[in-house]
Amino acid sequence: MNTLQWGGRFTGTPDDRLLAFGSSLEEDLILAPFDVTCSLAHVEALLGGAIITKADAEALRCALQTVQSEIANGSFADAARRSRAEDVHGAIDARVRDLAGTAGERLHAGRSRNDQVATTLLLYVRDRSGVAARHVHQLAASLVSRAQEELAAGTVLAGCTHRQPAQPVLLAFVLAAWSEPFVRAAKRFAQIAEAARISCPLGSGALAGSTLPLDRLRASAALRFFGPSRNALDAISNRDAALDLAHCCVRTLVDASRIAEELIAWCAPVYGFVKLDDAVSTGSSLMPQKRNPDPFELVRAHAAKLVGSYAGALATMCGLAPSYQRDLQETKATVIGIVEEALAALDAFSNAWRGVNFVRERMNANALEGCTIATDVSDALIAQGVTARAAHALVGAAVASAESEHRSLDRNDLVRLAAEVGVDALTAPLDARASIEAKRTIGSTSPCDVRSQITSLGLELSSILGGIS
Ligand code: ARG
Repeated sequence: MNTLQWGGRFTGTPDDRLLAFGSSLEEDLILAPFDVTCSLAHVEALLGGAIITKADAEALRCALQTVQSEIANGSFADAARRSRAEDVHGAIDARVRDLAGTAGERLHAGRSRNDQVATTLLLYVRDRSGVAARHVHQLAASLVSRAQEELAAGTVLAGCTHRQPAQPVLLAFVLAAWSEPFVRAAKRFAQIAEAARISCPLGSGALAGSTLPLDRLRASAALRFFGPSRNALDAISNRDAALDLAHCCVRTLVDASRIAEELIAWCAPVYGFVKLDDAVSTGSSLMPQKRNPDPFELVRAHAAKLVGSYAGALATMCGLAPSYQRDLQETKATVIGIVEEALAALDAFSNAWRGVNFVRERMNANALEGCTIATDVSDALIAQGVTARAAHALVGAAVASAESEHRSLDRNDLVRLAAEVGVDALTAPLDARASIEAKRTIGSTSPCDVRSQITSLGLELSSILGGIS
């Protein structure tokens, strides 16, 4: 089959090496099912404008359905590769011409690959945003349900900043915190899918519209867009939705990488907070004792790598005159690469997350280490009218002497501090559980607040479910 869609004006033949250099077939193949859907909608536009007959339309639909099943059974990709088509759009057009004869020759009327690529890419964005939204929604739900379990178990640990012990927290509080970025991501992915339904580029032609009476309303409705795009030149050059999806994928993976990092640390024997299931651990070829958290390390690496790829995708847009430029082919390939890799990495993250077991005794035992109740003692002084600065200095000194005696702050420290500031007695939580229970601000780690955070997360997750399924 003749797969090149141009050449009439040339007398010479194209340089094979340059054709190969310009081919996007490998990167495009993933778009094949969306291109067929888009082509079926174009048949509607042609029929609605009486540009083709009903018989032509029928022949085209039939050929396109055959192509759709060839894509599904895997035979199309190999045939397309053998055809050496410039891209998937050319390969599908050529296959339709093979299958539908003269009717096939009419499919490309009024259409350019420019509006075809823009539309196909929006269908891809819609599909993958939905996949991503459902995925992160599930991940968030799983984190929330683990938070619920740990709330019931009352697991506590030393919450850290700068990786240094800071204040005691509930593990449930930490898990609820981890779920928050995925709840936000689910909403963002749903918004991206929705934005990819607003305006249908198909029928914009190469850049200026068409003299053929294409029924754009009909094509746009067939593809479940709200309506045809307003301006043809913008429609063929706009890559907002694709870049937004890539951005959201990378952002989400960066969030996953931060949790991965925490879990990697917690798996190390010095923490001993996490024991990974065998199914998600790896060993060493030399050191028999090793149990490594490779999936989480790889998630971290993929996140970092995709940040670079995203910068590459944006960079290819820089300074492109606002119309179609062939550079956009590279933007598209980079975006698709980011999205597919991010979805695979998120999948791996979710699988590995299922193999995480918390070692509650270790966490509980460590919650007070590093004088994590010092802030509560300082708060107790403030509640007695001592200024924040003075309380900070007094408790700092008490911590220093406790540390030199290798102990935590205790009742005697409270008695001493009370005497120093001239009050009868000072009450402050001296163990992790009491410290956590004494928290009283909205959003804190107190069991009561964490319970309502979990309820609210559950409600939010069910409310967004309607928008993403
Ligand atoms: N393979 C090209 C792409 O993906 C198709 C568009 C070609 N358009 C053109 N005017 N040469 O961007």
